[in-house]
Amino acid sequence: MTTALVTGASSGIGAATARALSAAGHVVIAAARRLEALEELCASLDGPALAVAMDVTDPASVTRGLEEARPFAEAHGGISWLVNNAGAAESAPVGKTDDALTERMLEVNFHGARRLTEALAPVMVEAGGGAVVNVASSAGLHGYAYVTAYCAAKHALVGYSRAAAAELGEKGVRISLVCPHYVDTPMTDASAQRLAEKTGKSEEELRAFFASQNPGGRLVTAGEVAGTILELLSEGESGSLVELDGSGDLPGGE
Ligand SMILES: NC(=O)c1ccc[n+]([C@@H]2O[C@H](COP(=O)([O-])OP(=O)(O)OC[C@H]3O[C@@H](n4cnc5c(N)ncnc54)[C@H](OP(=O)(O)O)[C@@H]3O)[C@@H](O)[C@H]2O)c1
Repeated sequence: MTTALVTGASSGIGAATARALSAAGHVVIAAARRLEALEELCASLDGPALAVAMDVTDPASVTRGLEEARPFAEAHGGISWLVNNAGAAESAPVGKTDDALTERMLEVNFHGARRLTEALAPVMVEAGGGAVVNVASSAGLHGYAYVTAYCAAKHALVGYSRAAAAELGEKGVRISLVCPHYVDTPMTDASAQRLAEKTGKSEEELRAFFASQNPGGRLVTAGEVAGTILELLSEGESGSLVELDGSGDLPGGE
C-alpha cells in the first residue's frame, strides 16, 4: 500500500488514475481546483482517500494544499508516489499566440508539474525512495498545428522530466513520462466542441477525426493511460517514457 498524490484528479485521466490506484489498494490524495468533484470521487473509492483543493499554477495554493494533506499523508506513510496530470490545452494560430496564452499553457502544463516535483521529490529521496509520473502528451514529442504554446509547454515538461530522471534515479526516485495521443476525456470533448463552433462540423465528426489522427485509429481510453501510470509508478527504469497511440492492448483499457 503506497500513498499517491494525483493532480487533475477531478476529471478524465486523473480521476481514472485515482480509481485505478485505489482499486489496487493504494491510498489516494486527489488534487485539483474543483473540490466538490474531488470529494465525490473520493467518496466513491473503497480505500482511504483525501480531496484537496489545489491550483497548480499558484505556488501559494500548492503549498497550502500540501500542508492540508500532510496529516493524512503522514498517517499513511507519507507521499511516495506523485502523478503530475493537471493540464489544459488552448489553441490559437501563430500570430495570435500571445504572451498571456503562452504563460497560461506553461503555468498549468509545465510549472505546475515542476513545482510539485520540486516540493515532493526531495522528501522522497530523504524517505529512501519514490516515483513520479508526469503526464505529458504526444505534443511533448511531436509538433501539431494551432497549439504552439501547448506543444512548447509539454516539450518543456518532457525535458525537465528527462533531466530530473537522470539526476534522481540513482537517489531512489524514478521519474517517468506518459505521452498519450488523443484520449477520450472531457478535454477532447471540449476541443471537438470548440472546433465544431468554428467549422460547422458536428462534434461526433470531429471526435472521429481526432481518432483517425491517432496511429491506432481510435481514441486512447483514460483507463489505458491510468493502467500505464500505475505500471510506471510500480516498476521500471527512471526516465521511462510510454507513448500511447491507440494501437495495441494496454492494461486498464475499457
Ligand atoms: N485528452 C487528451 O487527448 C490528452 C492527450 C495527451 C495528454 N493529455 C494530458 O492529460 C492530462 C489530463 O487531461 P484530461 O484529458 O484528463 O483532461 P480533463 O478531463 O480536462 O482534466 C484536466 C484536469 O486538470 C485539472 N486542472 C486544470 N487546470 C488546473 C490547475 N490550474 N490546477 C489544478 N488542476 C488543474 C482539472 O481540474 P480542475 O478543473 O478541477 O482544476 C482536471 O481535473 C493533461 O495534462 C493533458 O494535457 C490529454
